[in-house]
Amino acid sequence: MRILITGSGGQLGRDCAERFSRNHQVVACNSAAFDITDPERAKAVFAKHAPDVLVNCAAYTAVDRCEQDQSHCRAVNSTGPAVLARQCEKTGCRLIHISTDYVFDGKKKIPNPYTEYDLTCPLSVYGMSKLAGEQAIAEELENHLIIRTAWLYGMGGANFLKTMLRLAVNNPGRSMNVVDDQMGSLTWSNRLAEQIEQLLDDALTGIVHATAEGFSSWYDGAVFFLQAMGVEADIVPCSTSEYPTPAHRPANSILENRRLKQAGLNRMVPWRQDVETFALKNRKELLRACK
Ligand SMILES: NC(=O)c1ccc[n+]([C@@H]2O[C@H](COP(=O)([O-])OP(=O)(O)OC[C@H]3O[C@@H](n4cnc5c(N)ncnc54)[C@H](OP(=O)(O)O)[C@@H]3O)[C@@H](O)[C@H]2O)c1
Repeated sequence: MRILITGSGGQLGRDCAERFSRNHQVVACNSAAFDITDPERAKAVFAKHAPDVLVNCAAYTAVDRCEQDQSHCRAVNSTGPAVLARQCEKTGCRLIHISTDYVFDGKKKIPNPYTEYDLTCPLSVYGMSKLAGEQAIAEELENHLIIRTAWLYGMGGANFLKTMLRLAVNNPGRSMNVVDDQMGSLTWSNRLAEQIEQLLDDALTGIVHATAEGFSSWYDGAVFFLQAMGVEADIVPCSTSEYPTPAHRPANSILENRRLKQAGLNRMVPWRQDVETFALKNRKELLRACK
């Protein structure tokens, strides 16, 4: 299969490119090579590579910055997916697009998870822009799969676990407050890439959820990761109100991979298993990057 990956410079894009290249012909485009908001560029890239499947990993993911930088956020997260969907429709290409738990308001009682059948109600500009991206794709293109994931971490970009590690390594003895009343599933981009590979030529369309199994708070996740890394840290649980951010985030970000399970396609594993593997496999490189 010929697979085009957009946003290949990010953490998920990088893992998808690495994994899919083992079995497929892959064209990986970072933002410089292919700006997804540019329809002319989309036309040219499709004409050159004639992909069977497009996996869109490109997004404006700086959730807090989106509150200020609204037009850029909407261009990348809402207009970009529409541009891609239109190009896919013209050329008969399947589109796999990545979306987010932040399309929900998180008001469901913990630990009840959100399924693909729950109503959306985003709290932030980022969440609204991602939801608009989902809707644009559904309007433009039949052969699409929207994969909602959450709390991503990987080697290819900035993420919560790397931030926790950097702070712990560079400030020994200093206590760190970490939010303990938002629940979700830390999801390894490498595992998600494996899941996406399975869905490349599947007949499944519409929306699916794909996050690690089980859930934790940010605090529990940080404690578990730093222990797995063998790094001592004084982490103190705090509430969302004690750690205000420009964007509101859902208290309950737990997603259930219901449709993947119903179809016998769920490849996601418990979050602790993947965080541990991530730490063990990348320990040296992660520590080196803290210096
Ligand atoms: N990170 C999370 O915790 C999380 C949670 C839920 C869902 N998701 C979703 O998962 C997907 C992958 O996230 P990620 O963590 O891998 O993101 P990431 O590391 O921030 O990567 C996103 C990539 O998109 C690129 N990009 C930005 N604007 C672009 C444009 N106009 N055209 C082409 N590329 C552009 C960025 O390139 P530059 O750096 O050069 O701008 C970056 O390499 C996204 O759809 C995101 O919304 C992420």
